[in-house]
Amino acid sequence: MCGIIGYTGSESAVPIIIEGLKKLEYRGYDSAGIAVYGRDGINVIKRKGRLAELERHVSGISVNYSSGIGHTRWATHGEPSDINSHPHAGSRNEIAVVHNGIIENYKQLKEQLEKKGISFISETDSEVIAQLAEYYYDKYKGDIIETVIKVSNRLEGSYALGIICHDEPDKLVAIKKDNPLIIGEAAHGNFIASDIPAVLKHTNKIYYLEDKEIALLHKNQVEFFNIDKEPIKKTPETVTWSVESAEKGGEPHFMLKEIKEQPKILRETINSAGNDGENKIVIDNLDITRYNKIVITACGSAYNAGIAAKYVFERLCRFPCIETELASEFRYKDAVIDEKTLVILISQSGETADTIAAMREAKLKKSDTLAIVNVIGSTIAKESDYCVYTAAGPEIAVATTKAFSAQLAVLYILAVSFAVKLGKITSETERELMAEIAALPEKTAAILEKVDEIQKYASTCIGYKSIFFIGRNIDYAIAMEGSLKLKEISYIHSEAYAGGELKHGTISLIEDGTLVVAIANCERLYPKIISNAEQVISRGAKVVLIGKNCRFSNANCELFDLPECNELFSPSLSVIVLQLFSYYVAANKGLDIDKPRNLAKSVTVE
Ligand code: G6P
Repeated sequence: MCGIIGYTGSESAVPIIIEGLKKLEYRGYDSAGIAVYGRDGINVIKRKGRLAELERHVSGISVNYSSGIGHTRWATHGEPSDINSHPHAGSRNEIAVVHNGIIENYKQLKEQLEKKGISFISETDSEVIAQLAEYYYDKYKGDIIETVIKVSNRLEGSYALGIICHDEPDKLVAIKKDNPLIIGEAAHGNFIASDIPAVLKHTNKIYYLEDKEIALLHKNQVEFFNIDKEPIKKTPETVTWSVESAEKGGEPHFMLKEIKEQPKILRETINSAGNDGENKIVIDNLDITRYNKIVITACGSAYNAGIAAKYVFERLCRFPCIETELASEFRYKDAVIDEKTLVILISQSGETADTIAAMREAKLKKSDTLAIVNVIGSTIAKESDYCVYTAAGPEIAVATTKAFSAQLAVLYILAVSFAVKLGKITSETERELMAEIAALPEKTAAILEKVDEIQKYASTCIGYKSIFFIGRNIDYAIAMEGSLKLKEISYIHSEAYAGGELKHGTISLIEDGTLVVAIANCERLYPKIISNAEQVISRGAKVVLIGKNCRFSNANCELFDLPECNELFSPSLSVIVLQLFSYYVAANKGLDIDKPRNLAKSVTVE
């Protein structure tokens, strides 16, 4: 969701900013723009549509600009258009601003500025920041830090801001509140960015800006101030992600590359959480016996991981009260939680607005929070009481794959650890379960070897208007993820149903040529799901059956056999087939898989 990049240094700003914007494309956007400072003042160029459109327009401009800001916009206030795109400049073109987030009091601020004779040209909330900045810059006689402080004190809502100023050609100012912003320090200059992949090619030395901290970037140094304008000292962190990890590595899409990386990231995640990594220390330190309730909360695929985890926790820990809640619901429902509740937050980005709000709600009610997060230094990672990192590396495709798999692995290990602490399993069972988990990377690799088979089948499925996913128990959880993946990237309508619920509604939609994907890993429930398959086939549906030892034979049923696996951990196997299926359906439709329409990687606003 919206991406910010800014640079000041000894190299040409324009290609660096455009390249940085390309690395942020995955966040989702509908327009893009840059503002650069050169001899002739601030030059703002912005266009609705893809970056290629913007690139065409900047190709003619001088490469001598050495400071600037860039933005990919995901429309919230005002339609996607050239005018509504960022950067926004004030009426005097003295200050240009890029903004991520939402300014809740922008209407009041706009009215006040209009009364002072300032006129607005866009429908956005963000323009008010540029106009306000120019107003204060004038009032505070060119003190850019004072200006940023005054602006920030007037804004309500969330923001990450990159600001350049006509009179300060070699500087760039940044501030944030409730929206991520990092500062990268490179040999040839300094960067601001929404996310690490945007600067990884230039530096791995990263400062994480805290709320209301101000960064003043010069070409060869970065100064930090607090909101009282006092200098503060910050220590950079060294990011271990490699440049290659944020590149496609020869695959046509990031999504396919990320699907194929899963054996490796599972191995690393399991090692760190289950064997001897830092995550194991966090898990070992967590005393589950202090709690009488667990709430797992998240959004999107992370929520589906939470649904799967509920089955695993219940089965292994026999814990009386475990709930999985959508973070967007949990935050507003006045949840019955207290200091005896452990709230588990799952988030790839660590920046999803609803999950952050859910975490803060939990803390307000004195519950302990445990986060499972992929991005180091993200808001959820920093604010939660306990944090376990998934070792998925940068995930670029909007639709998550490898981070989801890593989340599942951490959740399995947590469940085993809790079960031991609660005295629900013996150490022998613990060893067996951990061995099962440790075998998952190899088993996922075996499934990936069958990619051609899945590709071939998926290419026959692009004509479906609607595809249903069914499963029972933990297979239902993974059916939800399969359905979500398909609709996200292929734009085919899809629904996931618990097999037992078919007769309560969905079966009325089954007709000749409907496709039903059935997941069948639960031994005990195999006959039930086969019966569901027979019911839909007899009403004209085609069925794809994904599971271990699938023994069902029918001309209208395609089988995808999975390796032998404890059913509790089988989502990690089924999901590989489901991800590949969705990927190849979308690829055969020729869609923009890594950047599906209207979707954002990191939903940082409500
Ligand atoms: C967006 C992404 C999904 C992701 C969800 C939650 O919708 O497209 O892939 O599952 O946000 O994101 P998080 O970063 O909190 O896991």
